[in-house]
Amino acid sequence: MEIIDGKAISKEIKEELKIAVQERKVKGKKIPHLAAVLVGADSASMTYVQNKVKACEEIGFESTLIHYDDSVAEDVLLAKVEALNTDRSIDGFIVQLPLPKHIDELKVTQAIDPLKDIDGFHPRNLGNMVVHLPGFLPATPAGILELIRRKNIVTEGKNCVIIGRSNIVGMPLSIMLGRNANPGNCTVTLAHSKTNNLSAIVRQADILIAAVGQPGFVTADMVKEGAVVIDVGTTRIEDPKTAKGWRLAGDVDFEKVAPKCTMITPVPGGVGPMTIASLMMNTLKAMELKGK
Ligand code: GUN
Repeated sequence: MEIIDGKAISKEIKEELKIAVQERKVKGKKIPHLAAVLVGADSASMTYVQNKVKACEEIGFESTLIHYDDSVAEDVLLAKVEALNTDRSIDGFIVQLPLPKHIDELKVTQAIDPLKDIDGFHPRNLGNMVVHLPGFLPATPAGILELIRRKNIVTEGKNCVIIGRSNIVGMPLSIMLGRNANPGNCTVTLAHSKTNNLSAIVRQADILIAAVGQPGFVTADMVKEGAVVIDVGTTRIEDPKTAKGWRLAGDVDFEKVAPKCTMITPVPGGVGPMTIASLMMNTLKAMELKGK
């Protein structure tokens, strides 16, 4: 059994990007500039956005953080999106989700210029992904694919079960792993809250991806001997033993599931750092797509 070190792989990618930035500098080309829009003070979202900005600093990208109070009006946010769309100094930007209930997330996502949509959430980019046209792949699924690629995990012909059908993770990942590509060519089952006989279906998985958001959801009896298990869950749970008073918990009962696996990702230190690495890769790609 191998514990996949997502942090180390993400560091490797950031080093590669750092070199790419230095090469651009030498050639007198523009340095990638990422902007992140954060609404409200949700502590997890604030940490995610801060980590994205920190990754930019590490690599040598420029970054701008725009922070609104959670009472911001939808039209103010949409006007900011439009300003970022037309700002030539910004190569790509994200609006951190979730947004407060009074703001229509889909409306905001659709307002982002698809050529600056480094999160890959715009319907145009999702459509491009389906038909293999150039565009941005959503950061978490793309990070998982990069992890599969760099760990030489064979996907062709494998049964892949994904639990959770969110627009951000499960749904796009099911398409990416089912495509005629490498990684890809899996026989994908996308399981969700209405799935019957979930345990029996999950037990068929050669590659199991858990993206439910419920700590310990995947128990050892649900996992086939020799499976590869990728845990996307990042739920904060109270833990008075830690300095912060909480810790991150994945969807998988790691202690009991790990001994059955050939490979497994931990939480933290598995998929999380890969999401940031692939967002950074998308930022560089944003420049390349525009021929900058
Ligand atoms: N919220 C949870 N994951 C993500 C992500 O990858 N991008 C954005 N913008 N918001 C998120």
